[in-house]
Amino acid sequence: MHESILVYRHFRYLKWAVTLTVVAILAYVFHTPGEPANGGTWLGYTLGGIGAGLIFWLAWFGMRKRDYAKPTGKLEDWLSAHIYLGLSLIFIATLHSGFQFGWNVHTLAYVLMMLVIASGAFGLYAYIRYPRLMTDNRRGTTLDAMIVEMAEADREIRELAAKMSDEIRDLVFDAIDNTTIGGGVRRQLEPGRSGRTVAAIDKVRSAFASGARDQTETSRRLISLLTRKNELVVRARNDVMYKAMMDVWLYVHVPLSFALLVALVAHVIAVFFYW
Ligand code: HEM
Ligand code: HEM
Repeated sequence: MHESILVYRHFRYLKWAVTLTVVAILAYVFHTPGEPANGGTWLGYTLGGIGAGLIFWLAWFGMRKRDYAKPTGKLEDWLSAHIYLGLSLIFIATLHSGFQFGWNVHTLAYVLMMLVIASGAFGLYAYIRYPRLMTDNRRGTTLDAMIVEMAEADREIRELAAKMSDEIRDLVFDAIDNTTIGGGVRRQLEPGRSGRTVAAIDKVRSAFASGARDQTETSRRLISLLTRKNELVVRARNDVMYKAMMDVWLYVHVPLSFALLVALVAHVIAVFFYW
């Protein structure tokens, strides 16, 4: 997926969403309910109905998307509509509420909706931004290939480091033993860097500068290998981060969508019950 989703069919769904929003705003402005605007006026019910209809339809998108067995309509079509109509809900639901918020299930539904929309917006951003960064970062190889190359470099680095002073050897071994790619969610979301390998490079460099002549060649080769290894670690970690960024928002978007449906049903039951 890329920018084409947004311009899909010459912005057809953007036009629909803008039309819906403008009509809702005009209706709200010219509406004279004889009481403060709220969800219970005829316009309130209309906007609430449209909002709830949109929310159920947007949530249905998920199930439909996964139903590859019977494709009806193009996925781009759905996603483009999902994004623009999803954004229009910000206006529809806010106008529906008449800006009346409180500590109640109505406002809970509203807050959940906003969080679903915000996570969706982040997801859209991630889908547009990260695939390209990922391709550039990979430079034609794959994460697996980077890891294999790292393991090969590590083997040679260990052999060379064993010939250096104890201090350098320990530092280099420690860097190798403690450099991991991936891990928990927090770890995966961190941008690539490799502090330990860099520290090891600095140490070998300063030892190199201060002399031990018999080790000049070894030092030079060690620095070059560590530098290559460091570059691979940073790139592999970035690769993991891009992938995680493209996944993480769905863990907010989807569960909160379901929570929203529950809160929305509760909201509608509550207003009919108390009415
Ligand atoms: C079938 C759809 C809906 C119906 C029938 C409906 C009905 C109502 C009614 C009657 C009120 C006024 C309640 C009162 O004044 O005590 C209200 C308020 C409200 N509704 Fe809805 N609603 C619907 C959909 C939605 C949706 C989709 C949202 C947002 C996710 C939403 C969020 C709110 C909020 C935030 C209020 C203001 C609560 C307050 O006064 O504290 N409603 N709704
Ligand atoms: C209240 C409004 C919304 C609801 C209930 C909703 C719900 C969902 C659901 C259930 C899925 C399926 C996810 C899956 O199972 O893979 C989905 C996907 C998606 N949503 Fe939303 N969404 C809403 C608003 C938005 C908005 C405003 C945006 C963007 C600005 C957005 C962006 C996306 C994207 C990009 C996907 C596709 C994920 C994929 O193809 O892997 N959503 N949404």
